[in-house]
Amino acid sequence: MKVVTAKTAGFCFGVQRAVDKVYELISQNVAPIYTLGPIIHNEGVVEDLEKKGVQVIQEDQLETIQEGTVVIRSHGVGKNVYDRIKAQGLDYVDATCPFVLKIHRIVERESLAGSQIVIIGDREHPEVQGICGWCTGPFTVIRNKEDADQFVPIMGKKICVVSQTTFNYNKFKDLVEILRKKRYDNTVLNILNILNTICNATEERQKEAKHIAGEVDTMLVVGGRHSSNTQKLFEICKKECENTYYIQTPVDLDSEMFQCSSYVGITAGASTPKKIIEEVQEHVRIKF
Ligand code: F3S
Repeated sequence: MKVVTAKTAGFCFGVQRAVDKVYELISQNVAPIYTLGPIIHNEGVVEDLEKKGVQVIQEDQLETIQEGTVVIRSHGVGKNVYDRIKAQGLDYVDATCPFVLKIHRIVERESLAGSQIVIIGDREHPEVQGICGWCTGPFTVIRNKEDADQFVPIMGKKICVVSQTTFNYNKFKDLVEILRKKRYDNTVLNILNILNTICNATEERQKEAKHIAGEVDTMLVVGGRHSSNTQKLFEICKKECENTYYIQTPVDLDSEMFQCSSYVGITAGASTPKKIIEEVQEHVRIKF
């Protein structure tokens, strides 16, 4: 059986880096270790870390901790969280994805220069909340057409537009188009500085999955049942390869999936650990 696994399967660079940092601290016998929110949306990984003594805390618990090391996850946090960690005398390891850090630096710089900041994204998402926390002047979060329609440019202020890293590029373009027209509203002609800060990790994973699914006899998509990005990968692959299966672990593999198959492709959602992907790969190679 020939098996090909997508290079982009599983964790993106930023999440892998954050998870690695926590395991590195464990191997250095650092204790106690806290992560600000779960390091990744994968129960297996979070449970494993818990067994190794890593505790998940929320931002509002920071002041209850007397000692230890706090890991800031890839989503990043606002400036006030760094200040609170330092004020509490705690150590911290910053695992904010460098692509998110870049947005923090942009909005901080542009705010200080007097711009009105527009963040295209979901205001409930921790990454967006972190970005807001670096704005020192007026800022607005825009998620959809209605929000864009309601946006009021401040007379004479330059507008700086950034995006949540995982926002859909086509939606971003549409919303920016509405903002472009807005700058003429009530004769407020503002300079619009648009910075596309979308990360292409998701798009690349989808493109590669589509390509592989188009070539193999059976396609396996590995990921948690509730992972929306894994469901999306499954839909993309299913269109290319009728024999596409959504599995969570090697236990879900069945010989029926490989009838008349000599070439199998594997991809995985963004929160699927490398270990599970490798186990699936080995299982397919050995057993079928
Ligand atoms: Fe991942 Fe960083 Fe992109 S966390 S999705 S590589 S912005």
